Amino acid sequence: MPVIAVIGAQWGDEGKGKVVDLLAEKARMVVRFSGGDNAGHTVVNPYGEFKLHLIPSGIFSSQVVCIIGNGVVINPAVLIDEVDQLNQRGVDTTKLFISDRAHLIMPYHILLDGLEEEARAGKALGTTRRGVGPAFADKAARLGIRTGDLLDKEALMEQLRLILDYKNIILTKIYGVSPLSLNEVYSQYCQYGERLAPYVRETTIMLEEALNREELVLLEGAQGALLDPDFGTYPYTTSSSPLVGGGCLGAGLGPTRISRILGVFKAYCTRVGSGPMPTELKNETGNLIREQAHEYGTTTGRPRRCGWFDAVAARFSTRINGFTGAAITRLDILGTLPTLKICVGYKLDGQTIDYFSGSIATLEKCQPIYEELPGWQAPISHIREYEQLPVKARQYLTRLEELVSCPVNLISVGSAREQTIFKTPIL
Ligand code: GDP
Ligand code: IMO
Ligand code: MG
Repeated sequence: MPVIAVIGAQWGDEGKGKVVDLLAEKARMVVRFSGGDNAGHTVVNPYGEFKLHLIPSGIFSSQVVCIIGNGVVINPAVLIDEVDQLNQRGVDTTKLFISDRAHLIMPYHILLDGLEEEARAGKALGTTRRGVGPAFADKAARLGIRTGDLLDKEALMEQLRLILDYKNIILTKIYGVSPLSLNEVYSQYCQYGERLAPYVRETTIMLEEALNREELVLLEGAQGALLDPDFGTYPYTTSSSPLVGGGCLGAGLGPTRISRILGVFKAYCTRVGSGPMPTELKNETGNLIREQAHEYGTTTGRPRRCGWFDAVAARFSTRINGFTGAAITRLDILGTLPTLKICVGYKLDGQTIDYFSGSIATLEKCQPIYEELPGWQAPISHIREYEQLPVKARQYLTRLEELVSCPVNLISVGSAREQTIFKTPIL
């Protein structure tokens, strides 16, 4: 019953989409378990280049059943558009299913995400403004509407009437904007319901059946460990857990069923949105990495903040997820730099610390302590065997492996599916 969880190990955008698309060639099921369309997972394969926000990255492998789990919040308009776009490009979506328990992003969530950000002024979190945070807040507040609710139109009207009355008070009295029309929202969501009804299922049964058949199942993480609301740089985090623990809750399976936990790390660090990032490079090297790697957000197009690999943060991420292996992506990007740095500790008020603090004020003060390694200064995107990598590239990987205390299973040297080096078996 192998289940492999593919988990973002930094601040998101580590290349989870690429890794899942690749591993899905051998899988029978892929489950997205957290986040919403704040995620943007890029896949480059024989069908072309795709940026998926909600649909699991296993959708391109015809034998794979793809599930959007209960832990995801769904904007139906985004999902329908994604299905249509995939179909137009020849990708079959008939094996896609959605948990009836997945909450919906409603129009007021999107409005409030923007209004709350503006109200924070200089302290804005830098959210993707997709309504994801407000939708998870309503889930916790028991004010959510779930995918399964779309199937009973009468009950939906009653539910929506109550919630919208309350939301309209907030919109008009607190933010001074126009209220939303009950009838418009209702008829829009009834249409979405008709369109999505064929996909809605009790997905935990499907998952259990796949496990009983001993099929390979992948859990596809969204975001990254350092954006986790408990362990990330709170409040500069997302609102659902991107950790493997979130995978159990958001897919509906027990922790003992997960066989391997693959942490996806970029060979350096990026972050989009606000909050501390100790190794950020606000200089030419940072700009060079951004331009060479085209580090711009998949969902929002915002420039990503770039910096050196932070082994302190990476060890923390490994600890809270229990990674059994690592995938190192974008190694090719470092191929032009004469010297590479890895952060091995922080200086804080004259002391050396080796842990990732829970306090953002502390993290803001942490100065990285770097170890320098020589760059290999050669293109590597064509390489498929570990031994053929330049010696200095292997030295860099070996050092990451030691510092993170986790074996490297695979190395990605380009965005395409085949631009991958398998170093040690995942399973
Ligand atoms: P995700 O959110 O974790 O799926 O990652 P994103 O898709 O947001 O961002 C990762 C970016 O890196 C995408 O543009 C990928 O196509 C690209 N990518 C993934 N792996 C590699 C790699 O090894 N080398 C290069 N050059 N690009 C990669
Ligand atoms: P993938 O799955 C990178 C960040 C936002 C912001 C913070 C809160 O592609 O790795 P939110 O909209 O979730 O309330 O924003 O979280 N963020 C991501 N950053 N990759 C993502 O997803 C992200 N999803 C959210 O930029 O800083
Ligand atoms: Mg992304």
